[in-house]
Amino acid sequence: MSNTIKRGGFSSSFGVLAATLGSAVGLGNIWKFPSLTGANGGAGFLLIYLLATLVIGLPVMIAEITMGRAAKADPIGTLQKLSPKKSLPWWLVGAAGMLAAFLILSFYSEVVAWVFAYVFKAIGGSILSSDRHVTESAFGALIADPVQSLLWQWGVLAFIGAILLMGVTKGIEGITKKLMPVLFLLLLLLCAVSLTLPKVADGLAFLFKPDFSKITAGVILTAMGLAFFKLSLGMGTMMTYGSYFRDDQNIPATTVRVMLADLFVSMLAGIAIFPAVFTFGFAPSAGPSLVFITIPAVFSQIPGGQLLMIAFFALASVAATGAMLSMMEVPVVILHERWGMSRAKATLLTIAALMVLGSSCALTNSTMASFKLFGMNMFDLFDFASSNVLLPLGGILLALFVGWVWGRDNFQRALSNQGALHNAAVTGAVFFLLRYVSPLLILVVMLKGLGLF
Ligand code: PFF
Repeated sequence: MSNTIKRGGFSSSFGVLAATLGSAVGLGNIWKFPSLTGANGGAGFLLIYLLATLVIGLPVMIAEITMGRAAKADPIGTLQKLSPKKSLPWWLVGAAGMLAAFLILSFYSEVVAWVFAYVFKAIGGSILSSDRHVTESAFGALIADPVQSLLWQWGVLAFIGAILLMGVTKGIEGITKKLMPVLFLLLLLLCAVSLTLPKVADGLAFLFKPDFSKITAGVILTAMGLAFFKLSLGMGTMMTYGSYFRDDQNIPATTVRVMLADLFVSMLAGIAIFPAVFTFGFAPSAGPSLVFITIPAVFSQIPGGQLLMIAFFALASVAATGAMLSMMEVPVVILHERWGMSRAKATLLTIAALMVLGSSCALTNSTMASFKLFGMNMFDLFDFASSNVLLPLGGILLALFVGWVWGRDNFQRALSNQGALHNAAVTGAVFFLLRYVSPLLILVVMLKGLGLF
C-alpha cells in the first residue's frame, strides 16, 4: 500500500538538520535533563549519560535513520521491507514504537501544558519571585487543579494536531527551521544571567564535579533511558524522519551534529538552572517541578526579568512543539500508510486517543492522585515504562536487526549513499557497535537496572 501513497519529504539539507534537531531538542533538555541530573546526584549521572549517548545513542540513531531512508516507509513497513525472512515478526518493533509514542505523548503533553500555561502566567507576572514559597505554591496550584490541567493539555494536543494537518514539509520543516535559532539565543542569554548569581560556584560544581557514591544500577538505567529519550530513539521516530531524508544527505555527519547540538542545549539548561538552585535554596532533587520553580526566581533578579521569562517559556514551547510533532508522526504515518487512512483522519484519531489516555497523566496530581499501578502514578508509570523499558528494548532489537538480519553489505551501502561517500571506516565501526556492543550493553544495563539479575 505504501508504494501507492505519495510521500512527503524534507526539501533541503538545512531543513533535515533542523527537523531532526527539532525532534531531539525539547522538554527533555529543559525539563527532564535538569530534573534527573538533580535527583540523581549531579555530575556522576551526567558522565554516565554522556557515555550512553556516545556508545549507545549515536549508533542506534544512525541505524534508525539509515533504515528509514533505505525503506522510505512507516516504521512497521520499514521493518517488513528490510527483513529478508518475512515469516519473522520484526514489524512488532514498529508496533511497540507506536505504543511508546502514545505513552510518552500522554505525559509529555501534560508537561507541555504546564509550559504553555507558564507563558500566560509569566505575562500576568504573578509567578515572578525570588521567594521559594511563592514559586513552589504557584506551580503546586496549577498541577493540583484538574480543570486547568486537562484544558491546557487538550489545547496543546489540538495545537499540535493543527500543525500536523498542514503536512510534513510545510508544517514540520517550515516551523522548526524558523524557530530553532531563536531557541539557542534565548538559552545563551539565560546562562549569562545565571552565571552572575552569588552561588554560581556551587551550582557548577554540582553539575561538573562527579560524586560516584550515588550511582546505582537504577541510576545507570535512568541515564541510559534519558539518552534514548533525548535523541528520540527506540520507537521509530528517527526511522520515520529518516524516511524523509534526501538520498544525498550524509547521515553520520548529520547525526553527530544533532547529538552535539542536543548535548549543548542540555548543558546550557543545566548552567542556567543549577546556580539558581543553590542561590535561592531550592532542592536540586525537586524532580519535575525543578524548572518551573527555579526559573521564575532567576528572572526575578534582573531588570526586564518578566519579559525574559515570557521569552523563556515561549522558547520551551517551541522546543516542545518540534519534539511532539515528531512523536505524533509515528502513529500518524502508521495509520496513514499501513491502514490507508487519510493523514487528516489519522491525525484526528491520534489526538482523540491522546485526549483520553493523556488525561490520566493530567489528573495525576489531582483527581487521580491515589490511583497507582506497580506503586507508581500514571505519569511516572508511563515515563518509566517508555524510557526505561520500551525505548531500550526497541534499541536492542533495532541494533540486532541491523547487525544480524539486514547485514553489513546493505547497511554500508545505504550509509555510504551507495558508495558516493568514502566512509568505510565509520560505517564499519558503527556496524561493529550495532552488532556486538550496543545490544549487549543495553541488555545488561536494563536487566540490572530493573533488578532482574
Ligand atoms: N527528544 C525529545 C526531548 O528530549 O524532549 C522527546 C522525544 C521526542 C522522545 C520524540 C521520543 C521521541 F520519539
